[in-house]
Amino acid sequence: MFSSVPGPIGIFDSGYGGLTIFDKIRAAMPGYDYIYLGDNARAPYGTRSFEVVYEFTLQAVTKLFEMGCHLVILACNTASAKALRSIQINDLPHLDPARRVLGVIRPTVECIGNITRSRHVGVLATGGTIKSESYPLEIHKLFPDIKVSGEACPLWVSLVENNEAQGDGTDYFVRKYINELLAKDREIDTAILGCTHYPILLPKIRKYMPESITIVSQGKLVADSLKDYLHRHPEIDAQCTQNGKCSYYTTEAEDKFTESASIFLNEAVTVQRI
Ligand code: DGL
Repeated sequence: MFSSVPGPIGIFDSGYGGLTIFDKIRAAMPGYDYIYLGDNARAPYGTRSFEVVYEFTLQAVTKLFEMGCHLVILACNTASAKALRSIQINDLPHLDPARRVLGVIRPTVECIGNITRSRHVGVLATGGTIKSESYPLEIHKLFPDIKVSGEACPLWVSLVENNEAQGDGTDYFVRKYINELLAKDREIDTAILGCTHYPILLPKIRKYMPESITIVSQGKLVADSLKDYLHRHPEIDAQCTQNGKCSYYTTEAEDKFTESASIFLNEAVTVQRI
């Protein structure tokens, strides 16, 4: 059904946010080819149901396979939380058992056990990711002794997308969700930014997070984990072409993507609508 010729690594996100992850992947592995696909026409995913996020994500993965990718990274926490497991277990065996789909949650939590001393960890993410309980589930598989508290930050994605990350009004909502998280557990010493958009808010998050709390951003962790994965799986690595090329696709209007991509990637990109 899909071409057996090696192809680019597929990076999927609901919209622009995955560019913060992609930026770090590309920096760690510049030689590979990539296709970035943002489902901007149907974003945000953070407020959508399990069924809908699963359906949209499966469509995107299938599209990226059709475009020649053998390996797809769900660079979206909400899609990783709500769709990854089902796609890996139920869909890949029919679609093509030799292809791989990986997410961003597991690589983010693997280092947590070495960071927290109090064994109390906080997660800031979209409503969908928090509701899925994916972070506590993944953390407890590796570190059953860690207490995990989550806080949904529904306005943070909109603030970033509306270019308000540095705006004065943003301080109120950054402080609000941090305080709500800390009110749930005063012993938290490690806070995970479990959403692609939140690294853009890092200066303000750092400002309102007590200094003693370590903030964990996921881009570099995901990039290092992917590099390690390809090293451990030479059969998948052999299916990934390496000419240093990146192409960008969006399901929405091209001009909007080009304009907003610069917030996340610090460079202008040429994008095609599909
Ligand atoms: N990319 C999503 C995430 O990491 C945030 C944006 C959205 O809600 O679609 O959860």
